[in-house]
Order: sequence, then C-alpha cells, then structure tokens
Amino acid sequence: MDKLLIQGGIRLSGEIRIAGAKNSALPILAATLLTTDTVQVRNLPHLYDITTMLELLGCMGIEHVVDAKLNVDISSSSIKHCSAPYDLVKTMRASILVLGPLLAHFGKAEVALPGGCAIGSRPVNLHISALQKMGADIVVEDGYIKASVDGRLKGCHIFMDMCTVTGTENILMAATLAIGQTVIENAAREPEVVDLANCLIAMGADIKGAGTDTIVINGKDRLHGCSYAVMPDRIETGTYLIAAAATRGRIKCKDTRPDTLDAVLSKLQEAGADISVGEDWIELDMHGRRPKAVSVRTAPYPAFPTDMQAQFTALNAIATGTGSIIETVFENRFMHVQEMNRMGANMVVQGNTVIVTGVPVLKGAPVMATDLRASASLVIAGLVGDNETLIDRIYHIDRGYECIEEKMQSLGAIIRRIHS
Ligand code: UD1
Repeated sequence: MDKLLIQGGIRLSGEIRIAGAKNSALPILAATLLTTDTVQVRNLPHLYDITTMLELLGCMGIEHVVDAKLNVDISSSSIKHCSAPYDLVKTMRASILVLGPLLAHFGKAEVALPGGCAIGSRPVNLHISALQKMGADIVVEDGYIKASVDGRLKGCHIFMDMCTVTGTENILMAATLAIGQTVIENAAREPEVVDLANCLIAMGADIKGAGTDTIVINGKDRLHGCSYAVMPDRIETGTYLIAAAATRGRIKCKDTRPDTLDAVLSKLQEAGADISVGEDWIELDMHGRRPKAVSVRTAPYPAFPTDMQAQFTALNAIATGTGSIIETVFENRFMHVQEMNRMGANMVVQGNTVIVTGVPVLKGAPVMATDLRASASLVIAGLVGDNETLIDRIYHIDRGYECIEEKMQSLGAIIRRIHS
C-alpha cells in the first residue's frame, strides 16, 4: 500500500491549478445515463473515484472514449444491463447516483446498498422513499436496492427530511425524464447540485431553482447529448489554501471559483490570512505570521462545509489560541484527531465538538489516513511537523486529490510517495 513521506517545516509558496470538482463530476457522469446520445464531459479530475464511476458504467456495457485533451465522450446506447455490483459500490458510496438515472431512463435498476463508512452510517433512505413517491417499485433484498417502474416515473411534490446532496441529485436526475412536474423541497443548495442542473439543462432538461431550497423540474420525453465542463473543485481549493495558511506561506489558486468558498475564505481571514480574489483565482498570504485559531460549525451549503472541517482542525493544531470545531452533518468525523494528538496536538473531543488548543509545532510521526478529508488534514499536519511524517493508507487521498504530491512539491513541500 502506498504511503506519503513528508518532511515538515517548509513554508508553501507558489501557484497551482485547481482540478474539476469530484462531487460535481460524479453526478454528471451518472447523468450520461439519461440519454443514449453522446455526452462529452470536460475538465474531469484524474481521481480514483472518477475511474470507479467510469468502471461502474463500463460494467453495465457503457464505453467511454478519451480524446487528446482528456475530454471523455460517453453514450449509454450500448448498455447491456442496469446493475451496480457491490464490489464497486463498496469502494465508492457515490455509486448510488446511478439509481435515479437508470430508473428514469431504462425503467429498472439494481444497485448494491452502500454500507456504513468511516465517517458515519450514511443511509440512503431518502433517495429510496422519494423515488417510491415518484411511482417506483423498490425492494431491498440480498444487499441490493432492486427498483423498477411500470412505464415512466411520475412527477410529484417531494420534501426531503434532511438536506442531502446526492439524494437531491438522484431525484433531480430522475425527475428530468418523469411525467409532469416534480418539486423538491428542502433541496441541497451545494454548488455541485447547481453544476449538475446546468449540465442537465444543457441536455435539454427543464429545471428552475437549483441553488435554492426549492427545485422545480418539468419532465421531458427525452434528453439529448451535450458537451459540458465540470466546475472547479472548491474543496481542493480550500485544502490548498489552508495548507498554505498553516505553513505561514502564500499561494495562488488558479482556475477556481471564489464565489463557492465564502464561508471558508471568511474563516481564513479570521485566522489572519490576507486574501485577494479575481473572477477565477484566489491569492492567500500569511506574510509569515502564525495563524490564529478559529471556531467553525459545519452545516449544509452555504454554511461551512463538513468536507473542510478536518483541514481546519489541522490549522488550529498549530495556531495561537483555542478554537472549537462542531460537526453537525456526520456523526463520526473526528478520526484525524487521535492521529494529530499522536503528533503532539492538543485536542479534546466532546460529543460532536473538538476543542483545539494550538501548539507551536507538531512532531512528525507515522499516522494512518482514515477517510478522504481526514487524509488531507494529515498532509497539512505533516507539513507543519518538525520532522518526518509517514502517512499510511493514502489511497483515500487519491480518491479525491489529483496528483497531491506533485502539486505540493510545486509549492515547495518536501513530500514523496513511497510505493510498497
Ligand atoms: C455528499 C458529498 C460529501 C459531503 C456530503 C455533505 C458527494 C459525492 N459527496 O455526500 O463529500 O461530505 O455530501 O456535504 O457529493 N442522510 C440520511 N438519509 C439519506 C441521505 C442522507 O439520513 O437518505 C444523512 C447523512 O447520513 C448525513 C446527511 O444526511 O448525515 C447529509 O448527507 P448527504 O448530503 O446525503 O451526503 P452525501 O450526499 O452522501
């Protein structure tokens, strides 16, 4: 299993280009199931999760063609069956995103039920109940969600009990081919939902209100092909900004979307960062200062994202003062805390809160990555360690960060991958 070896103590400095957003690319790839025309997806990030989604489509008989500019052309016209096997679903929960499109376009779907994961139980009950309300016949047996519909799904009024990102996306996709109007209330407002909606609109869908908590979809008989560029990854952007801030450095992130990072940028400013933004770039400079600890509370967009919580915990670890991190979205998302305490951090978990009192420097140590964003936080911790940190199980990082060691190296970090 590959490991990352980091020699800490270097101030990051330089420019990087931000990749396409993983959490937007995954539903957009699933949305290609809604038409038999060819859909071209541009600005796809090079990540394990993207490979897994392409493999998932491939195992249903759907092939993709990659051109010289790494744009991917996909057409579901060659589909042979509508099932997503457990072997792939267990490696990526977002596989559930094929459920809505398969059911809406082909009238049936069998998708392995995703299990719990490192950050919580993460049920998919809301995806299932909404599709049932739209007329789908769904049973869960032998570990599979087995769904079918007689004719087409029917538009209806759906109130989501909880704000769920992939749940909203699944129903949004299903509704584009349903008969009549679907209204999704308490919809997730994440920018990735808006990006998916824009792609669906480019495919001919009639969608209003994406980005608000009420999305109205008027179903169409068919959707058509299009060429669509995935939006930049706000979580990758935030992670690099925090890494630069923690090391008292400076960074320019190019090809990004500052408007999707308001909550994160304001916390970085509170931590003492000097930030300037343009239409598609963000510059952060700590002017060599040690960051100040900040308190954050995670909640659905536009509030502070749960996917940035672990990285801010790492920032607080070496900041001046004390900050609290409150996690309200997932029940078990503090796995990185024990690892950072092994590096000399001063953190105490109390229920869904971690109280972090900054120390001047962390001590490098062997640590274990447990989930995607926790892994990124350990990279940041390693960068501010006083000697070597060896991070095991970095396949988690490769799921969501494109070429992390090359990008970090280009900012001056001493980091390398050890193949074993
Ligand atoms: C997505 C993101 C993930 C991010 C999360 C929250 C993708 C591929 N992943 O995950 O990176 O951390 O949003 O911003 O976009 N819930 C239920 N029942 C359901 C569905 C969800 O109880 O049917 C609960 C979950 O357990 C969780 C909360 O709702 O407590 C929010 O989860 P959700 O937004 O669904 O997360 P994902 O879409 O899986």
